[in-house]
Amino acid sequence: MALDSPSQVLAAIQERRSIRHFLDAPVDRKLIMQALHAASWAPSGLNNQPWRFALIWEDDLKQKLAGLTRYSSTLQGAAVLVLVFLDRESSYDYVKDCQAIGACIQNLLLTVHAQELGAVWIGEILKNKEKILKMMGLPDRLELMAVVAVGHPVHRNQSSHRRPLEELIVAER
Ligand SMILES: Cc1cc2nc3c(=O)[nH]c(=O)nc-3n(C[C@H](O)[C@H](O)[C@H](O)COP(=O)(O)O)c2cc1C
Repeated sequence: MALDSPSQVLAAIQERRSIRHFLDAPVDRKLIMQALHAASWAPSGLNNQPWRFALIWEDDLKQKLAGLTRYSSTLQGAAVLVLVFLDRESSYDYVKDCQAIGACIQNLLLTVHAQELGAVWIGEILKNKEKILKMMGLPDRLELMAVVAVGHPVHRNQSSHRRPLEELIVAER
């Protein structure tokens, strides 16, 4: 499904939920490429595009990663894991680069939602980011920022909440 009107964008922002339980069904690689393409259109400082991605489709590698987080069942159940890295060689300002990568991941999550798939951003696994880099045989210039687990949702019944705006706006003059 294409996000072709502002109202669809707003609906996707509000209706997207973190999906942690997946059906045992494959995901078309073309959909993941579409989602990564959208992710790569995130804004970044100086347009430095510091994000890099690794895709894990193989069950044995998913299992190994699952052993490095308390969210193991989510990682095992996903059709594909998207590892999102910061490329230090493209970096110009660590905070701004992390912000850009956050925007990139949100684009990814919104696209997956629009594709009627589901995903969750896993940060807890970052405690093992060095091990993961070694396991994947990737160079030190990459720093793991997130693992995004993607698949077909078992259900979409999750609820979530957000603080009211009155609690969030700290000044208006
Ligand atoms: C930086 C970051 C790290 C997160 N890490 C995890 C995680 O390790 N495990 C998990 O299940 N969800 C994780 N989440 C998802 C949040 O729990 C989720 O976005 C939040 O509870 C709001 O729910 P919603 O996404 O359904 O609106 C993370 C989200 C962010 C932005």
